[in-house]
Order: sequence, then C-alpha cells, then structure tokens
Amino acid sequence: MRILASLSFAVLALASLTASSQAQSAPPQGAALTPPMGWNSWNFFAERVTDKDIRAAADNLVATGMKDAGYVYVNIDDTWEGKRDETGLLHTNDKFPDMKALADYVHSKGLKIGIYSGPGNKTCGGYAASLGHEEQDAKMYADWGIDYLKYDLCSFIPDVMEKQAPGDKPAQMKLMIAAYDKMAKALHATGRPIVFSLCQYGWDSPWEWAPALGGNLWRTTGDINPHWDRIYGILEQQDGLAKYVGPGHWNDPDMLEVGNGKLSLAENRTHFSMWALLASPLLAGNDLPNMKPEIKAVLTNSEVIAIDQDTLGKQGTRAYSDGEVEVWTRYLAGGAMAVAVLDAGDSRYTTHPFHLDLGKLGLHGPQAGKNLWSGESITLTDHMPIEIESHDILLVRIAAPK
Ligand code: GLA
Repeated sequence: MRILASLSFAVLALASLTASSQAQSAPPQGAALTPPMGWNSWNFFAERVTDKDIRAAADNLVATGMKDAGYVYVNIDDTWEGKRDETGLLHTNDKFPDMKALADYVHSKGLKIGIYSGPGNKTCGGYAASLGHEEQDAKMYADWGIDYLKYDLCSFIPDVMEKQAPGDKPAQMKLMIAAYDKMAKALHATGRPIVFSLCQYGWDSPWEWAPALGGNLWRTTGDINPHWDRIYGILEQQDGLAKYVGPGHWNDPDMLEVGNGKLSLAENRTHFSMWALLASPLLAGNDLPNMKPEIKAVLTNSEVIAIDQDTLGKQGTRAYSDGEVEVWTRYLAGGAMAVAVLDAGDSRYTTHPFHLDLGKLGLHGPQAGKNLWSGESITLTDHMPIEIESHDILLVRIAAPK
C-alpha cells in the first residue's frame, strides 16, 4: 500500500516536473495535470450572466453529482467587468456586486472559481480588459481567490497588433505571444495556482508556443455553437494536434454544448465522447438548474470522464475513416485503449452496417471491452458489422488490447 502510494506520488511529481520543464514560467503548482473540468457561463448565459447564476451553478454542480463526477471549476466568462478607478483598479459591474464574496461562496462548496479577461483594452463583449494593467489584475484575481483565468484576444488585434505592426502578420503574432507571456508571468508572480487558459482561436498554432509560456490550455479553433455541423467541424480540426498535449497543457476545442440548443441525444453523446477522446477540457456550458435527466446522464458518465481524465494524458487520434464513418483511438494508462466509431453521416440513417478493420487500429484478434454508453460487454472482432445511427457513436474501452 505504502509502496503504491509513494510510487503514485513519484509519478505525479515526475508528471509535474515534465510539465514544468516544458513550461518554464508556468504557475508553480503543476496545475491541470489532467484536463480541467467544470462549468462556464458563456455557452448558455452569454452576456446575461449574474452573480446569482454563478451561485446557482455552484449549488447545482453539487446537487446533481457533477462535482463528485469531477466538475470543479465554476467559470465566469465575459461581462462581469465594470470601470477602472483613478488607481487603475478594475471594479465589477452591478451584476457582480462582490466578487470576493462570490469566490468565497464557490469555495465553500468545495469548488474552484474562474474568471475572464483579455490582453486588449476591451473584451469581446466590449468590457474593460487588462492592457497595461496585467500585474494589477492578476494580483486582484489572486486576492479574490480566483483559480482559473480565460484570457481572450479580441480587441488586442486592433488595439495593438494592427496598430503597432500594420500589415505585418509575423510581427503581429509576436506581439500576441508576448501579450500572453506577460499575463502568464503576472499570474506566476502572484504565487497562487491559477490555471491559464489561452483564447485566441488557434491563431499561429498556439500548441507550438503556449506550453512554453505556461499555458495550461489553448483554444484550437473559433467559437463553438450548439449545432452538429459546428461541433463536427471543430472535431475535424483536431486531428494532428495530439502530439502537443500532456499533463499540464491541453488543446481546447472549446467548451461543451451538451444540453444546449437542439442537439439530439445522440449528438450530445458523440460530442461528449469525442471531447473525452481528445483529452479536452470538459467545461459544461448548459443551464444546470434546468438540466434534463438524460443530459445529466451524459455529463456524469464516469467511464467516459475516466477516458478524458486518463493520467497518461495522451490525446486520441483518428485511425481511419471509411466514407462517413470515422474510427478514433486513444491510448490509456495501464495499456488500455479507447475506440470510438462515429457515424458522421447526415443523410443516411445508419451505417448499413459498417465493417470494422481492426488491423488499421494496430489490433489483432478479438478484443474484449466495454461499451461505455450501454454499459454492456462487447468484443470487437475483425470485420464485425457495426450499426450506428446518424451522428451517434460506439465508444468502447478495451482493457488489454492485443
Ligand atoms: C469570444 C470567446 C468566447 C466567449 C466570448 C465572450 O468569442 O471565444 O468563448 O468568451 O468571446 O465575449
């Protein structure tokens, strides 16, 4: 027991060492060793979010069992910001009367709290952002007890990039990277563990440079919305990015839309499964107080969450596609593997069926596993027929692939 405990401590220490050697100025605490999980206000509330909604989200993460399933961050997105006073200190607006009290409330539930700003003068919603006030803002976040910062490029483009380097894209990108580095250092200087989330829509391949400046996650694309085409479009942009992630630093294909808009249950399941397969941050973005039981069942499927949170930290990849059917795999700790078969087709109801080619997954002979949505045992065999309805998924965990 004791040997096991110290062994897992050693593994953790090694993981954080690896993460911090790759990320020189990362916050000292080895944040986000697995992809961050929580809830963010933007996808459902957008600009309407208030203090009351954040408290209700915290209450509901606890009441629904989502906290126990791993969702710990309660993240306030844009529109909390008020005006700066003569000392430069940024105040909250009327919707958020007392941020410290709100942070204390969220912490009292055993949860963590996140906030939002950007490197320009203004956020995407036109509220005050951090340009010229980076250290001051970072210190204020730390004083409030903030645990997570999403830092959104937006007005930095016209305010600095286009102004200081008109028409010179490479110079503009350097300015952008320097702005993220500046906030990373300001967060680091507070000494508080604050997860640093870069939101600049995947410009200039952030997976190549964000880990080195201490980014724990970086958006890989423009904004998500609750439509299958957009979710699938984002998924297609993730292939090829797997090698850039590991404990402490993750690709972010944007927050979850599970339970939003008119997504079908199959689409919700597929979206959630694929974000887990991609080792993505799992930030729910739905209306928690009014969550339907079937949506809660998707978001709290512990075996799918275990794929996302797998300690090996390897992002899944597309093994092959066959017409509109895609097969993705993810290597997991202890030699296990996740296999996802996805029917991306819109116009035909099922896969007719589709015949699995195990050799293309590097597997040989029958593979015993578990269907993570039905909970049943399943053995994958070569050329087996698989019937999947449009936009649905078969997600299997194989304990010991052969
Ligand atoms: C951008 C981001 C979104 C959200 C909004 C807020 O569009 O990509 O995730 O934060 O800004 O204004």
